[in-house]
Amino acid sequence: MPADTTAATIPSTDGTTMITATDGTTAITATGATATATAPVILVDHPLVQHKLTLLRRKEASTNSFRRLLSEMSTLLAYEVTRDLAMHEVPIETPLEATTGRLIDGKKIVFVSIMRAGNGILDGLLDIMPGARVGHIGLYRDPKTMTAIEYYFKMPKAMEERDAIIVDSMLATGNTAIAAVERLKETRPRSIKVVCVLTCPEGLANFHRAHPDVPVYTTAIDRGLNEDGYIVPGLGDAGDRLFGTQ
Ligand code: URA
Repeated sequence: MPADTTAATIPSTDGTTMITATDGTTAITATGATATATAPVILVDHPLVQHKLTLLRRKEASTNSFRRLLSEMSTLLAYEVTRDLAMHEVPIETPLEATTGRLIDGKKIVFVSIMRAGNGILDGLLDIMPGARVGHIGLYRDPKTMTAIEYYFKMPKAMEERDAIIVDSMLATGNTAIAAVERLKETRPRSIKVVCVLTCPEGLANFHRAHPDVPVYTTAIDRGLNEDGYIVPGLGDAGDRLFGTQ
């Protein structure tokens, strides 16, 4: 499943912001009305993912459907986010002869879920990589200041031997992801990636100003944020929709 591998210019619907996919690997330049950032953004625009995203966005989607769709999308996202994982060779025997196969070391991967909406993505990733370790970060957005406040942080041991993949449903203002990566960097993992379902140009620019070294995998870059810090058109409150707490 290729990521966004063609050079393309994608105008946002408000006409003020352009997202330009510059080449075949990962680079996208997000130019917001107030900020510019160049950093790795991987837009996973496979038809299966986009189809499920459309169903997920619809306000009629039940809690049950929302949860199932998010999990299915995460499994498809896993395909992209694990594309460059290190592998090692192992001798095996097929029913016909001895040969050499290649395996990934699942235990070296740590999925870091930003509670609580990250858990919807986590389940799909664990379906496909059940040997991965899991860390949790509890962060909530102060509704007045939009800053991220930490209330929980638990990681596996020996983080310096692991590749960390942070998962959250939405990268909106970017403040939560910035705080999560800052905190995670203190544990010195080998690498860090961020996976989200939706983001927007302001959030990406804010995030990559703070962490230009951390790639973001997403299925859509929406128009922007509303006055409450929600992504528009978006999908609403991901945590509420996932857990039926509206
Ligand atoms: N968190 C959500 O759940 N939705 C948004 O649109 C933004 C942040």
